[in-house]
Amino acid sequence: MQTSSIREWDRVWVNANIATMVAGDAPYGTMRNAALAVKGERIAWIGTAEEARARASTQSTPVEDCRDLWILPGLIDCHTHLVYGGNRVEEFEKRLCGVSYEEIARAGGGIQSTVNATRAADAESLLASATSRAKRLMAEGVTTVEIKSGYGLDLDTERRMLEVARELGRCLPLSVRTTYLGMHALPKEYRADRAAFVQLASGPWLETLAASGLVDAVDVFCENIAFTVAEAEHFLRAARRLGLPAHVHAGQLTDMGAAELASKYQALSADHLEYLSAGGAAALAAAGTVAVLSPGAYFTLRQTTPPPIALLRQAGVAMAVATDCNPGSSPCTSLLLALNMACTLFGLTPLEALTGATRHAARVLGMQADVGTLEVGKRADFSLYAIDRPAELCYNLGANPCLGTVRGGVAAAAATRDVA
Ligand code: NIG
Ligand code: FE
Repeated sequence: MQTSSIREWDRVWVNANIATMVAGDAPYGTMRNAALAVKGERIAWIGTAEEARARASTQSTPVEDCRDLWILPGLIDCHTHLVYGGNRVEEFEKRLCGVSYEEIARAGGGIQSTVNATRAADAESLLASATSRAKRLMAEGVTTVEIKSGYGLDLDTERRMLEVARELGRCLPLSVRTTYLGMHALPKEYRADRAAFVQLASGPWLETLAASGLVDAVDVFCENIAFTVAEAEHFLRAARRLGLPAHVHAGQLTDMGAAELASKYQALSADHLEYLSAGGAAALAAAGTVAVLSPGAYFTLRQTTPPPIALLRQAGVAMAVATDCNPGSSPCTSLLLALNMACTLFGLTPLEALTGATRHAARVLGMQADVGTLEVGKRADFSLYAIDRPAELCYNLGANPCLGTVRGGVAAAAATRDVA
């Protein structure tokens, strides 16, 4: 047989069980005794291990023996607040002494206290703390992460947060999507003039940050302790004028009609949704807006009303699952733990939960053409796990069976640049 001078594949992983997470195939898109080949940054071929070995030997392709490990698409954490200063452990103690999240926020703590700490932090320290959180996510097989601003609430600090988020994506083998969460809370200096803040956040600040290429999407916290539907709508309208997609923090503590608002603006996602009406669910389904569940926040705030999963299923709303990593309501750097909680606390099936951190999470970020499933032509972002079946990723509490990650066809550990 002839050895071709231009290799069809750069590398091939054989003797793997592959969960492609492609819709409509076998559950999880499972293929046993399978193989996956990459060319450049892309998946070039998926098939049987036997055929892969034969083709690899004719082309002298480097072969990795997976020894029966499982390969899944690189996990996607589609809702995080990974960049922030300080922490809120004192509030954790207060809540356990009976003070509620809302009471703390209204007394000037909560998000505002992280705003104070973030404004005081320089880019270097923000990068250092966000890097260590990102590495914990990556250690479990996360290859794509969304990062929101929203703890600056002034132009300079919002810019610093977004620049740090972008820098993370350059320093680490991690795809980063940035979100300008310009309307996260009303900062203390605008307490007497809400309208002025809303104008700035939706006007010049948004325009400046977007013009700097720092904004992939926007987000607004529509809630009784944050912004009204009318204020949120003003912001979403401004984003739409700039052609920016939106996310909405909706129905976390009350149902203010934020899901309907998200749908009206064809938001990529409506996030949290513990408080959601049948009309809200129908609107999300009609708009193709994905529901991002945040079991870490539900757990941490010891909420008792879970999102109406049966209603979401019935309406046909796609569900994603995220860590919502943030210092207040979800100090969680384990997407696998979030998957477990989505199953145990919300009643998702392991298949729904894993789909929520792969295929549906990709949709939340508008990246479904590139990541979220293992298919020829998509980015070669995948992780290897020592598990017996995919559901095991949702079953364990605190275990990390991830043995390696490949991003863009390259073993991620080898691609990590030291950022210390
Ligand atoms: O997703 N809900 C608003 N934002 C965050 C909480 C932020 C905070 O408490 O610092 C969330 O839960
Ligand atoms: Fe959040």
